[in-house]
Amino acid sequence: MTLFKGMLRADESLFKNEVALDYTFLPKILPHRENQQRQIAACIKPLLIGKNGKNLFIHGAPGIGKTAAMKFVLNELEEETEEVVSIYINCWQKNTTFKIIVEICETLGYKLTHNKRTEELFEVIKNILNKKAAIFAFDEADKLEDFDFLYSILEEIYKKSVLLVTNYYNWLDELDERLKSRLMAEVLEFKPYNLAETRDILNQRMEYAFVSGVWEHEAFELIAKKAAEAEDIRLGLHLMREAGNIAENQSSRKITLEHAKESITKVDAFTIKKSSELNEEEQAILEIIKDNSEEKIGDLYNIYKSQGGKLVYKSFQRKIDKFHKNKFVSLKKIFGGKDGNSTIVQYANITKKLTDF
Ligand SMILES: Nc1ncnc2c1ncn2[C@@H]1O[C@H](COP(=O)(O)OP(=O)(O)OP(=O)(O)O)[C@@H](O)[C@H]1O
Ligand SMILES: [Mg+2]
Repeated sequence: MTLFKGMLRADESLFKNEVALDYTFLPKILPHRENQQRQIAACIKPLLIGKNGKNLFIHGAPGIGKTAAMKFVLNELEEETEEVVSIYINCWQKNTTFKIIVEICETLGYKLTHNKRTEELFEVIKNILNKKAAIFAFDEADKLEDFDFLYSILEEIYKKSVLLVTNYYNWLDELDERLKSRLMAEVLEFKPYNLAETRDILNQRMEYAFVSGVWEHEAFELIAKKAAEAEDIRLGLHLMREAGNIAENQSSRKITLEHAKESITKVDAFTIKKSSELNEEEQAILEIIKDNSEEKIGDLYNIYKSQGGKLVYKSFQRKIDKFHKNKFVSLKKIFGGKDGNSTIVQYANITKKLTDF
């Protein structure tokens, strides 16, 4: 019988190192972000010769290597010197001054944070860092709820670079004038990758993650194209993993175009746009939009309220704005309708767009 010949055995896998498809995996080289890495490095270089560093505001769409590029530079620096301490904070997880200060203490190896006030802890940080130099990288900075810590750092740490990363270029404008004038940040924009760059980056990950030769050319091409159209490497990584799993479930030794297509029909905005990281309130609002697509913001707000939502209208609007910028929803402005101007909110049906083969 040849019925099962050529099929994947139970002890075989198409994956060589699946971890390489994790969003947090940092490859050994980061192609197509050399200039951005150089600019980040230029801001922190003065710290290496005992001078004060520069501050940098980094912005750009989701999934295009901002975090990766920044971490890359910080890692290289760590290998180079112990005189400059680098502190990386994800502000989605640590969104208040107190949480950030505690986190910095932990990074510095100071463990006695229990029952201490923010001011006391900041004194500890100051004593340690003012003997050296420091880089503060605040990633996802638009999730911050207050900025007292930033003020303290800018005022009281002598030799430092502050890096702020967000998806929104206008986030900086919303900062307090006093903060802005102390920051004097240079600005670095990350633009999306084109198709050739996307292909290159995903190809590198393919080599890390999969057994060599398991991808059929057209299957990989389709996924690279979809990721390039969506301008999101994260989507590409997700699709590659899905397609690999689908192929494996069918005991196929190859990942074919059909597997790639099927992986695409399985994604929706929730799986790729980091919606798992939205807080409960935001998830609930997004659910309402999903169930009531093409409604006006005002009507959506009323539904939200009737379900016990607590936000005031202005904050609700800001959430919608955020969803829009993260491509969870699209907005249509209607000018001069019977109720004056209004905005229609539509749930972004990413699957529909992607499955247009
Ligand atoms: N130039 C590159 N080379 C290799 N991998 C890359 C490159 N750019 C992005 N990636 C990979 O793509 C994924 C998304 O990148 P990253 O997390 O840096 O996005 P981001 O711009 O910080 O997005 P967000 O704004 O949503 O946080 C990561 O797994 C990262 O390793
Ligand atoms: Mg990031």
